[in-house]
Amino acid sequence: MKDQFIEMMNFRHACKVFDENRKISDDDFNYILESARLSPSSFGFEPWHFLVVQDPALREKLKEFTWGAQGTLPTASHFIVTLVRTAKTMRFDSDYIENMMADVHHIPEEGRIQRKEFYRGFQENDFKLLDSDKTLLDWAAKQTYIALANMMSAAAFIKIDSCPIEGFKAEQVNQLLATDFNIDTSLYQVAYMVAFGYRKDPQNEKTRQKLEDIVSWY
Ligand SMILES: Cc1cc2nc3c(=O)[nH]c(=O)nc-3n(C[C@H](O)[C@H](O)[C@H](O)COP(=O)(O)O)c2cc1C
Repeated sequence: MKDQFIEMMNFRHACKVFDENRKISDDDFNYILESARLSPSSFGFEPWHFLVVQDPALREKLKEFTWGAQGTLPTASHFIVTLVRTAKTMRFDSDYIENMMADVHHIPEEGRIQRKEFYRGFQENDFKLLDSDKTLLDWAAKQTYIALANMMSAAAFIKIDSCPIEGFKAEQVNQLLATDFNIDTSLYQVAYMVAFGYRKDPQNEKTRQKLEDIVSWY
């Protein structure tokens, strides 16, 4: 068991080009998506949405602003653009938060009032998230990366390769989301992208610092 996990961690690498002839099965891709769905988030508010971009024309448009996926956008079996919910929906007093508590968490009204007040204190005082919309967006975006890690690990566990992607011009990608993906960018913005498929080339040797250089014990 322990060996299997480390083996999976070593198998995962940032795969730069995929074998175009190999497609991930629906069952396997749903397995990867399920690992995103089951990912933890602060207060359980799931500040994400996942766009699976399979249309070659849309991928081509993304490629124009995505320097970090020149080899993966055209060759990936599956390509995800992960969206993060904006301040408008992640604020303690938004309809989205109210609906999450009522419809998903099944919290009765009285409990919701208390929880909302607690969440307000957390956002306003503990983490000072209400200082600007960008602060709240960045906090929400951090959580979407937990889903990223889980998706890449789930994929590697079943021998599927991946590449996380932050190499893009966010402003232009957001504009494209509005014009070509019908996304309301006042509610969602791009967080990151991630490509999945099967490697074309052997992976490079892992380069990492030594454990003692990155861990301090007190
Ligand atoms: C948040 C994030 C963004 C990244 N963006 C890109 C990218 O745009 N393009 C790319 O080819 N690799 C990207 N990478 C991959 C890293 O360069 C890679 O994970 C790192 O060099 C370690 O190598 P390894 O993942 O193969 O072990 C990104 C990784 C992370 C975690």
